Amino acid sequence: MAGVTDRPFRMLCKRMGAGYAVSEMVAANPQLWGTQKSRRRTDHVGEVAPIAVQIAGADPLTLADAARHNVDRGAEIIDINMGCPAKKVCNAAAGSALLANEPLVARIVAAVVRAVDVPVTLKIRTGPSPRERNAVAIARIAEDAGIAALAVHGRTRACLFAGPVEYDTVRAVAHSVRIPVFANGDIETPQRAREVLAYTGAAGLMIGRAAQGRPWIFREIAHYLATGTMLAAPTVAEARVAIVEHLADHYAFYGDVQGVRTARKHLHWYTEQLPGGAEFRHAINTIEFVAAQIEAVEQFFARLAADGERLRYVARSGEAAVERTEGGAQPRAAHANWRTEAIAA
Ligand SMILES: Cc1cc2nc3c(=O)[nH]c(=O)nc-3n(C[C@H](O)[C@H](O)[C@H](O)COP(=O)(O)O)c2cc1C
Repeated sequence: MAGVTDRPFRMLCKRMGAGYAVSEMVAANPQLWGTQKSRRRTDHVGEVAPIAVQIAGADPLTLADAARHNVDRGAEIIDINMGCPAKKVCNAAAGSALLANEPLVARIVAAVVRAVDVPVTLKIRTGPSPRERNAVAIARIAEDAGIAALAVHGRTRACLFAGPVEYDTVRAVAHSVRIPVFANGDIETPQRAREVLAYTGAAGLMIGRAAQGRPWIFREIAHYLATGTMLAAPTVAEARVAIVEHLADHYAFYGDVQGVRTARKHLHWYTEQLPGGAEFRHAINTIEFVAAQIEAVEQFFARLAADGERLRYVARSGEAAVERTEGGAQPRAAHANWRTEAIAA
């Protein structure tokens, strides 16, 4: 996820049980490769294998070159973005806009698969619009071209992030091709994960927004799938260590000045449903220095620790009150920040 799954966050998610984590999308356009943003997105130093890089573009040869470029820089899997609905990508007829042009999809996947000798995967939505759900046709094109796995977000391009996810098309895709299909969209709890796997017959799940602020969701889902029981939420002490380590990695990656600012969104997500989170978020919005940001985090967790051993998620204001200490992943509303964040390639 652009603006979210940078290298520090991917590494944290893998430590917390994610089997696989894909980079933020990288522009296929070589004119953008020199930007600091692109350079960061292609920096995989210390990253745990497999290193998967997502490329976004619309021209088969440009995408093929981008795939080679990223493999030369350490990518062990290339993922092609045909899922993004955002304007900057779709104005260039890239992302999910490509789904409306099946011959072009065929040329792109063939060119990229031919260009590199690592697995190439594809991320799609279910189609351009609810009246044109062509994900099964796209999946067959992809399989025929040698795509190794397919992730399907159960919304169309026209749906953006609105409305419920539709898993029927994801299921139809999973039953139409032999390559692994990963179901994606609104999977926010271990129970939901099991239902979606069972319903769709998918080989795996992709978790996006539910991991924001809750990277432990991966181990919670894995535990539930393996045992049928909910893993206890992390202890406050464990969460504190994980978050402080994440911050250290984040500052090292972005530098202190930018790092303090870009860490705020993670701290917002971490504390979104924790008691006292609103005051904490208000306070950190004006903190500009690493030491002060860490100090604020330490104080927040010291207060939490005084209240109990484990993280206790509470409802956001205006929602029905629920408070649970088991299974940290609670349902959360869809975030509306896709448009501003997603297209930072
Ligand atoms: C802020 C944001 C950035 C995203 N960036 C990307 C991206 O770069 N590439 C991509 O394939 N999907 C991207 N997505 C879509 C997610 O991968 C995922 O398909 C979508 O959020 C639905 O899954 P979820 O409900 O688990 O979040 C992004 C989503 C969000 C909210």
